[in-house]
Amino acid sequence: MLAELACFEQKCGARFEVTEAIYNCPKCGSLLEVRLSGSADQAAWKKIWRERRTCNGPLDQSGVWRYRELLPFDDKDRIVSLREGNTPLLDAPGAAEYSGLDRLTFKHQGFNPTGSFKDNGMTCGVAQALRLNRKRVACVSTGNTSASMAAYASAAGLDSIVFIPHGNISYGKLAQALEYGARTLQVEANFDQILALVRALADRLGIYLLNSINPFRIEGQKTIIFEMLDQRDWNPPDWIVLPGGNLGNTSAFGKALRELREFGFIRKMPRLAVIQAEGAAPFYEFFQRRGEFQSVADPKTLATAIRIGDPVSWPKALSEVSASSGLVEKVSEQEIADAKAIIGRCGIGCEPASAATLAGIRKLTEARVIRAADDVVAVLTGNLLKDPDYIYRYHTGQLQDPEGKLLESRFANRPVTAPNDADAIAKMLEEV
Ligand code: F0G
Repeated sequence: MLAELACFEQKCGARFEVTEAIYNCPKCGSLLEVRLSGSADQAAWKKIWRERRTCNGPLDQSGVWRYRELLPFDDKDRIVSLREGNTPLLDAPGAAEYSGLDRLTFKHQGFNPTGSFKDNGMTCGVAQALRLNRKRVACVSTGNTSASMAAYASAAGLDSIVFIPHGNISYGKLAQALEYGARTLQVEANFDQILALVRALADRLGIYLLNSINPFRIEGQKTIIFEMLDQRDWNPPDWIVLPGGNLGNTSAFGKALRELREFGFIRKMPRLAVIQAEGAAPFYEFFQRRGEFQSVADPKTLATAIRIGDPVSWPKALSEVSASSGLVEKVSEQEIADAKAIIGRCGIGCEPASAATLAGIRKLTEARVIRAADDVVAVLTGNLLKDPDYIYRYHTGQLQDPEGKLLESRFANRPVTAPNDADAIAKMLEEV
């Protein structure tokens, strides 16, 4: 496939080489995307992709690079893989019942090497940094991007600088950035403010930016959909449900579906349903009202991964959600907390932002937008262990929303203190 960088704004349509280190269109300032052209041999590629699952080569074992025919890199490019992707589709009858569906499947991106879907994108972002001969990479993050970038940069021998909102990311994620060896700056500002700061600093510091504004990150995240459809023998579901923050993943999913249809891998387009947290829902508000996009100056949610008020990729997300006849929903802190506990009870578990999916599905089935018999895949974006503090508070009845109001722990599983006494413990357990 021939790959170019193209301005996402149709009226501009400027094209650039993939070896140009640009994040926005130099002509009009809009977002950029990788444009692939050529012809695909679907039957042969589907077969090769399936066969690679049983091969021992590092690229074949990666759930991203296995689909390299649809990625903008070639054999001479240096690639660092931690065997990302390969995430399962899990049936969750308990969550299906909770949300009013006959059946619900989760694609759990928390099974990735650093525990989130960011690894799919980061292996491509770092491959691009290596192709451009950059020695230093950086990102602003609510925690998962930074954990992932820190890991891939270190594996590739690059310096990495992480910018995070001070006090507003979970310890699990902060710990990862430290352990993987990133220089970690806790900035006293929110995600949106820090992103503006770092974009202004990028050239001055000679850093290559690995936020999802980077079109190569989006290329890697496309493979979440490729793998999902491969696992479903190329039968598209009716709905794909995902949480929305900076909206890079929404853009990536839409692009993946567009390409699969354009190159003849699928005929039917699943509908994308993007779920935001009520206190950080600028895309939801915009999708209902249209007009001018209005950011949220002080976004608030306990699902800190999606605590974003000014999502940079909204123009792409708008176009992709519309092209899929999709929609945007928002859910409350209580709804997220309850849904998260239910996903845990299925033996699956996830971090708070991911649980917005189940909360959203429940709301959409109640409104009869999603039907009980619909074929639904929800994407769980992060691992349960990313935010244990939230879990402990929920199960011990101490979880407060961002306004300080105590949330109900409807599905609490309280730990019980027991004495060092066999009889007493036996008695306690008989009582249950
Ligand atoms: N779920 C999780 C677990 C995330 O970490 C993020 C984003 C999202 C959903 C939303 O994805 O931004 O593509 O719409 N986390 C970013 C980060 C912002 O810095 O880790 P999005």
